[in-house]
Amino acid sequence: MIDKATRNALALGLPNVEFRLGDLDALPLENGTVDVAISNGVFNLCPDKPKVLGEVFRVLRVGGRLCMADMILEDHVTPEKVQHMGSWSG
Ligand SMILES: C[S@@+](CC[C@H](N)C(=O)[O-])C[C@H]1O[C@@H](n2cnc3c(N)ncnc32)[C@H](O)[C@@H]1O
Repeated sequence: MIDKATRNALALGLPNVEFRLGDLDALPLENGTVDVAISNGVFNLCPDKPKVLGEVFRVLRVGGRLCMADMILEDHVTPEKVQHMGSWSG
């Protein structure tokens, strides 16, 4: 993912982007330093959701934002909907 993101940033000519490898339950970021946290398809893979959400809120600035897109499996979500790519975007 880091390699892919780096290639995308280069292709888009974005010089002010930095990628860090880290675990969501121990983010390599200082407290209160993040304006926006974006997560796409990651929270559902984390067993301890209160812990990872705590990490996100630890690093967010006051007034910072979390934008999350993920799968939520509920009884009314059919296997067909799970397979549909549109189900994965928020
Ligand atoms: C479904 S992919 C989504 C990747 C990317 N966000 C995207 O939209 O293409 C899930 C990613 O979450 C990462 N991941 C899973 N558990 C993680 C954790 N505890 N901390 C950080 N990353 C995690 C996996 O390594 C994988 O790259």
